[in-house]
Amino acid sequence: MNRLTTSWGAFTLTRFPEDPRDQLRAWDASDEYLLGHLAESGTDLSGTVAVLGDRWGALVTALQAAGPGELVQISDSYLGREATRANLARAGAAPDAVRLLTTQDPPPGRIDVLLVRVPKSLALLEDQLHRLAPAVHEDTVIVGTGMVKDIHTSTLRLFERILGTTRTSLAVKKARLIHTTPDPSLTPRPNPWPHRYDLPADTPAPGLPGLTVTNHAGVFCADRLDIGTRFLLANLPGHLGRARVADLGCGNGVVGLAIALHEPDAELVFTDESYQAVASAEENFRTHVGDGRKAEFLVGDGLADLPDGSVDLVLNNPPFHSHQATTDRTARRMFTDARRALRPGGELWVIGNRHLGYHVTLRRIFGNSELVASDAKFVVLRAVRQG
Ligand SMILES: C[S@@+](CC[C@H](N)C(=O)[O-])C[C@H]1O[C@@H](n2cnc3c(N)ncnc32)[C@H](O)[C@@H]1O
Repeated sequence: MNRLTTSWGAFTLTRFPEDPRDQLRAWDASDEYLLGHLAESGTDLSGTVAVLGDRWGALVTALQAAGPGELVQISDSYLGREATRANLARAGAAPDAVRLLTTQDPPPGRIDVLLVRVPKSLALLEDQLHRLAPAVHEDTVIVGTGMVKDIHTSTLRLFERILGTTRTSLAVKKARLIHTTPDPSLTPRPNPWPHRYDLPADTPAPGLPGLTVTNHAGVFCADRLDIGTRFLLANLPGHLGRARVADLGCGNGVVGLAIALHEPDAELVFTDESYQAVASAEENFRTHVGDGRKAEFLVGDGLADLPDGSVDLVLNNPPFHSHQATTDRTARRMFTDARRALRPGGELWVIGNRHLGYHVTLRRIFGNSELVASDAKFVVLRAVRQG
């Protein structure tokens, strides 16, 4: 079930965190299609092979067994990188078999084979192709892959505009390959990322209206203030004193920023599993609050890096999509983790769509859940850690 068979061997692959009840595989037909193509076409892997968007490390785990010259993975996901590490270790790969870079790290200087697992976010693809384009030379082999439903005309246009002439393969098991021939004469427009916009004048939190916020590519709602976030901003707790406050799943960090601006003694911790998100939150905090104020910026799995009982307040707008699967699993994990990280008497404030029924989940985990505010679409809920 969780074994991927390739020309270079069979690999047991898991997602991160591992969940025995989770039947979702750590790869799909597009990974298989790409790996099969590389083997059948005898693609020369003796140079630098860069893999962008490899969700759970299936591509690099298989490719390291092919003995490439240098193998580099570029990922925006902390969870994806942890899965990659575990999958490589299980495959018996040498610790230095794959250079694991984040989307915020400087890319490799020269790339001979560029493999792109098309990410969910077109913005992230645009940003990363711009960043990688200078390392591509006229002989670079560029192959993209993705499920048919995720490859749009706009996706292909990005390859065309930034790298060179692009065509797609026939679909196999609902997956497609993208073949691009590098065109050194292309002069693409400058990278539009990160994107900056001004928070609207009616943003319902003191200090925020009119502030310019930076959004690195791929960050949640990177071009405008999300309506759920707005509703949470309108209903934040006050009088926090010297509270230690975690903005859990911070995105660009506007929620924590609102607290920092309104509560001068509060100590903020921003955390997200996306490197692009935490970089955005840090830039926004440094720009609008300043370097003098103490704050932590953590890329990680929820609050896992915070000790038990170490925070007074957690603010959370949980995702309900996890790598394209609609699920409340991440929200449940976040609430459980928040309970652990809160001190007794500490509070978790959550915004969610009414229909998600988070009050039931919170009651199960905390033993209580109180409605702070609601409108036609959203609820803000408060749960208290009791003992
Ligand atoms: C709905 S967005 C909210 C962003 C921001 N707080 C806001 O309200 O605009 C959810 C965020 O949770 C992050 N996230 C998803 N899984 C996570 C995890 N396991 N640990 C930390 N953050 C996670 C996503 O990257 C995303 O930025």
